[in-house]
Amino acid sequence: MLETIMNIAVLCSGSGTNLQAIIDAVESGYIKAKIALVVSDSKTAYALERAKTAGIETLYIDPKKYKTREDYDKEIVRNLKAKDIGLAVLAGFMRLMSAYFVAEYKGRVMNIHPALLPSFKGTRGVRDALEYGVKITGPTVHFVDDKLDNGPIILQSAVEVKDDDTEEALLDRIHQEEHKIYPEAVKLFVEGRLKIEGRRVSVTSN
Ligand code: GRF
Repeated sequence: MLETIMNIAVLCSGSGTNLQAIIDAVESGYIKAKIALVVSDSKTAYALERAKTAGIETLYIDPKKYKTREDYDKEIVRNLKAKDIGLAVLAGFMRLMSAYFVAEYKGRVMNIHPALLPSFKGTRGVRDALEYGVKITGPTVHFVDDKLDNGPIILQSAVEVKDDDTEEALLDRIHQEEHKIYPEAVKLFVEGRLKIEGRRVSVTSN
């Protein structure tokens, strides 16, 4: 019997190193899903090149063509539905998702943030943690709700801050952890092993 596998979409705005980690995990068979679409709000995002190299369909949606965030998100949702997407993975997608998008994909959209939430939300998570003087930071994978960096936490990984760290060096070590925990979270989701109860997400065994 043919096994049906989940279609996933990855949404990116930038270099796409997390996308690459997910592509590699799919190609190696670690994640049993198909990346059916990579969406970007930036025409020049290197993530689009990575997707094309891997033979994945890409879609650039120009934010300037839409009046509101909801109009933009409606276009994304229309495309995700057309491809029967079961999970939307935000990987450096630099837009806040509208309540419309979150309602349409409730419990089926995840994001990665480069700090240990709920600390250091927003776009400067690495710098803010460094400037605050924390000794431990690291990435968080979480489900997305309609507030910034707020939904239930799926996985986190601790990264030690060194006395002589620069933002660049710290970001580099955080990225290395991101590239482990994001594929892991996607794998757990496609295997139906993530259970959300309120704010708490538990992992069920195989
Ligand atoms: C990551 O550091 C992630 O935590 C943040 O955006 C960055 C994306 O990097 N949300 P990349 O495009 O996957 O290299």
